[in-house]
Amino acid sequence: MRAMRALPLLLLPALAACAPAGAQQVPERDLFLGAGSCAAQACHGGGTAERQEYKVWATRDRHSRAFASLTGALGRRIGERLGIDPSKAAECLSCHSAGDVRAAATFDVADGVSCELCHGPAGRWLGAHVSPAFKALSPREKEAQGLRDLTTAGKRAAACIDCHVGAEGRDVTHAMMAAGHPSLAFSLPRFLHDLPPHWKKPEAAGDLAAWAEGAKAAGAARLRQVERMARGGALWPEFGAFDCYACHHEIKGGGADARRGGQPGDLPLDLAPLEILAAGDAAIAKRLEGVLGTTYRPGAERRKLAEAAASAAEEVLRLPAADPGGVGGRIDGWLARVEAGEARAGYAAMQQVKLLAFALAPDPKAAAFAEAYAALDEALARPYDERACAALARRALAAR
Ligand code: HEC
Ligand code: HEC
Ligand code: HEC
Ligand code: HEC
Repeated sequence: MRAMRALPLLLLPALAACAPAGAQQVPERDLFLGAGSCAAQACHGGGTAERQEYKVWATRDRHSRAFASLTGALGRRIGERLGIDPSKAAECLSCHSAGDVRAAATFDVADGVSCELCHGPAGRWLGAHVSPAFKALSPREKEAQGLRDLTTAGKRAAACIDCHVGAEGRDVTHAMMAAGHPSLAFSLPRFLHDLPPHWKKPEAAGDLAAWAEGAKAAGAARLRQVERMARGGALWPEFGAFDCYACHHEIKGGGADARRGGQPGDLPLDLAPLEILAAGDAAIAKRLEGVLGTTYRPGAERRKLAEAAASAAEEVLRLPAADPGGVGGRIDGWLARVEAGEARAGYAAMQQVKLLAFALAPDPKAAAFAEAYAALDEALARPYDERACAALARRALAAR
């Protein structure tokens, strides 16, 4: 870790004063100031027990090593296979750092995923946020000034999803995955749990509402990603838009593999978070029937798929809150059918079941649950066997 670079506090009011004037021309992202501007001891740099945020991030949070991953062994190998230098390529920096903000005077791309990538670019609020008047504002009022509201599950999910699912200019393509990039599977409770918290109110275990909010947000982001891929870009079909399991499964023949809507051989979308949301709630399943049945027939007009994905994303955002009561039982019923070979569950869907089991567990550290969860995790790292995984997933759900 590099030495901390604290901005002299004297500079702050000047920055705040000049930011609004340029804000019209300068895109918001250009106003990133870098982790160093948060790291002073009097600010978030560990001067007192209360002010440990920078230390926690710099020493224990994987985000502070996100840039280093690009130059590590796997990052270099992915780069070689794709013929790019990941430490300079916008398609990697967009998630492993702050994209193309290298021009910003005080932002260091090697900081990786630093404070402002979750909390919002500090150009507009860094000076103001130390004042008592600012501190008295509500999270919403602070957000109006550029400091992102992260107090609710929905808001938190939105902050993570741009990088953990994808957003404009930030997509993990099939070529990246084929070159060795991990496929992204996101679930809010699990990922919040895995972050060493630098905030006072840690996440409650077994937060099913947070899981459902995260699944909804991830599903909508995924549909917008499909829309982007189908609308733009020279490469089509972009395999990353579709269910991995549509192609990466063993050949059984007889047409029995056609799992969702459309005709045999159509490519279903990969909408795993929504698939699980629907499997756990009858009312939501009904609302999502059309969305989950969306497929693409190679050779068909891609614009139609883009339009279908865009309107499906709107539909997802209008979904009612899931009924947490029945989720565990319904998912178990569905998994029992998968185990018996009567229903199908793709790899991405099974990853989501694993993440859901975690969200449902009141104490994920309890020995029986941890053991069952690890067994499922291990099975998912081997060549995918959906019936074996379904059995292990049921065991994890039962062990909570
Ligand atoms: C959409 C955002 C996004 C893009 C674009 C992206 N990554 Fe990633 N990358 C991630 C996330 C998120 C993870 C962590 C995956 C997880 O554990 O869920 C990751 C993990 C990795 C890892 C593994 C780190 C480890 O030690 O486990 C490497 C290496 C990597 N990415 C390199 C790259 C390279 C090289 C590129 C450009 C070709 C790239 N990434 C593009 C989001 C992205
Ligand atoms: C600007 C992009 C970005 C944002 C925003 C972001 N992440 Fe990440 N996250 C990454 C990348 C890239 C990695 C992989 C880091 C590495 O190279 O090891 C990662 C890794 C992680 C990991 C470690 C994963 C593992 O397999 O161990 C967790 C947990 C995580 N992020 C949680 C979150 C949560 C929760 C949020 C929202 C509050 C969030 N992230 C927001 C880009 C981002
Ligand atoms: C991966 C996303 C992410 C990154 C990176 C990140 N934060 Fe946070 N931060 C959060 C979340 C989520 C919360 C909880 C928000 C809440 O409860 O209001 C939070 C809360 C905080 C709080 C409020 C503490 C409290 O107890 O309520 C401070 C201060 C803070 N972060 C500072 C920082 C600083 C400084 C950095 C960089 C060194 C940083 N954060 C990096 C996501 C992030
Ligand atoms: C439309 C079909 C199709 C879809 C959908 C698809 N792939 Fe592939 N994938 C291929 C083909 C073809 C190859 C190249 C042939 C090979 O190496 O086996 C490949 C190669 C790969 C490879 C490298 C070879 C290997 O098996 O390790 C990985 C990893 C991979 N895909 C992951 C994914 C992931 C993850 C998804 C879902 C997000 C996905 N693929 C979706 C067709 C597809």
